Amino acid sequence: TIPVVLDCDPGHDDAIAILLAGASDALDLRAVTTVGGNQSLEKITLNACRVLTVAGLADVPLAAGAAKPLTRALRVAADVHGESGLDGPEWAEPTARPLELGAVELLRRTITESAEPVVLIATGPLTNVATLLLAHPEVAGRIREISWMGGSAGRGNVTPLVEFNASTDPEAARIVFGSGLPLTMCGLDVTHQALVTPAVVERLRALGTPVGDMSVELMRFFATTYRELFGFEGPPLHDPVAVARVVDPTLVRTARVNVEIETRGDWTAGATVVDLARRTGREANADVALELDVERFWDLVVGAIAVYG
Ligand code: BDR
Ligand code: CA
Repeated sequence: TIPVVLDCDPGHDDAIAILLAGASDALDLRAVTTVGGNQSLEKITLNACRVLTVAGLADVPLAAGAAKPLTRALRVAADVHGESGLDGPEWAEPTARPLELGAVELLRRTITESAEPVVLIATGPLTNVATLLLAHPEVAGRIREISWMGGSAGRGNVTPLVEFNASTDPEAARIVFGSGLPLTMCGLDVTHQALVTPAVVERLRALGTPVGDMSVELMRFFATTYRELFGFEGPPLHDPVAVARVVDPTLVRTARVNVEIETRGDWTAGATVVDLARRTGREANADVALELDVERFWDLVVGAIAVYG
């Protein structure tokens, strides 16, 4: 099994990413950390507690990280994820609690104490990850790979060219893409292939389990906002793609290319400038995900949610 840590901002798709990481036989989920993004740090940390509690994962170490991006103000995505950041289900009082220590310290300890190199999965803005790499450069040698949901080789979803996680903290993204660590970018190019169709919701409903029902409620809310805001028939389940890529790399086709992060453009701060045509001669620094095996992805996600009963 591969030791993994998951840095997230739940968030409907982050919630499913937690479930996938916690259920997979291929992964050993050693820690969950939170970063301000979809909602305030306080709200998304409470949401992480809720998901871990319902899933019976309350013993997974959890720590809260950065409340805001490295240099910018936080602009949350209440329009997509609701006022709570995880609108939809009725939540009971969670038993899972964040530790006293911060996310960067929990990540540092978990990574340095692991006998095997750790895969760092990030499904929010890269603020915690960049801070970790800057403050504790010694962890770099113990990170096997970073798998990030964020960016786009084409169009954006916050501005015409910029995706939300990249847009929220471009300076952090620039640090991570410049780190030299093995890095997979699972951007909108591939996550917009992971559409939650009515057939997918039916498979979840048919599980007839508490975690299956919670997932149905999450997807019901997420589908509404994606329909109203973006005109999507079914919402794209972005974040689990970054987990699935670690569980089974054959699920995602990637291109090894150079990616630079725009931080200063008048209209493009946070744009991931992906050199697919290899025009710049700059060295490749990322594997950019371009194509998803959609059928097998959903088998993996539904199978993971079924594990919880
Ligand atoms: C990303 O933004 C967030 O709203 C989602 O959780 C996902 O991580 C998609 O652009
Ligand atoms: Ca997210």
